[in-house]
Amino acid sequence: MAEPVLRLVGIHKSYAIGTPAETEVLHGIDLELQRGDFVALMGPSGSGKSTLLNIIGLLDRPTSGKLYVQGRDTSAMDDAEITRLRGHSIGFVFQHHHLITAFTALENVMMPMLLDRGRANAAMRAKALDLLTKVGLERWADNKADRLSGGQQQRVAVARALAQEPPMILADEPTGNLDTKSADGVFQLMRDVCHESGSAFLLVTHSLELASRCDRIVELVDGSLVSQGD
Ligand SMILES: Nc1ncnc2c1ncn2[C@@H]1O[C@H](COP(=O)(O)OP(=O)(O)OP(=O)(O)O)[C@@H](O)[C@H]1O
Ligand SMILES: [Mg+2]
Repeated sequence: MAEPVLRLVGIHKSYAIGTPAETEVLHGIDLELQRGDFVALMGPSGSGKSTLLNIIGLLDRPTSGKLYVQGRDTSAMDDAEITRLRGHSIGFVFQHHHLITAFTALENVMMPMLLDRGRANAAMRAKALDLLTKVGLERWADNKADRLSGGQQQRVAVARALAQEPPMILADEPTGNLDTKSADGVFQLMRDVCHESGSAFLLVTHSLELASRCDRIVELVDGSLVSQGD
């Protein structure tokens, strides 16, 4: 089998280490994501889903355990290396879109490319417009983000997550703030993009209906994975 995009081995995470409030919230997580995987992460509130997603997204470090991104062990990397790896390997879609509302849709999609390469150029614009076309928003490219509907904003956020062609996209309740119809549209879009681009998607959802349309469901209960069913 090909090198997994992501491999977690025995990931533990504690908060407030060394204080009386110290608590372990992840108790030894093993997980693999392959290219093109479209996986739902479910579990009750407080079970550790966001904590796990932050660790996988290299926004936070595990207390112990190994995390490999495309075969590369991240535990020995310094912060600069981690930041670079995050920029190239991971796209994020959050519950709230986190767009820069004073910028246009196009400018928002260009952001990850700008952060990486410093200066805007015609190729970046063309690429951002391509991505907006893919999410069905080419006509809205020059609209300020705060002039878009919630569903449109979330589609811009998906386009932005794709800008660096990351092998992995993490989404924490990406449709949680949307009405059913927009949620369905954004979900379908992510699934199509996943199967087209070959990026692996891991998305937190509380919706059993959406989860059942994923390739696989992994379930966290009290900081442990209890099932990795199809
Ligand atoms: N920065 C922090 N410091 C201390 N404890 C934290 C911190 N972040 C999260 N926790 C605790 O870790 C546990 C898991 O939280 P987490 O946010 O990962 O849950 P979740 O599964 O994402 O929940 P939800 O479905 O409500 O978003 C909770 O008990 C929470 O109180
Ligand atoms: Mg959460």
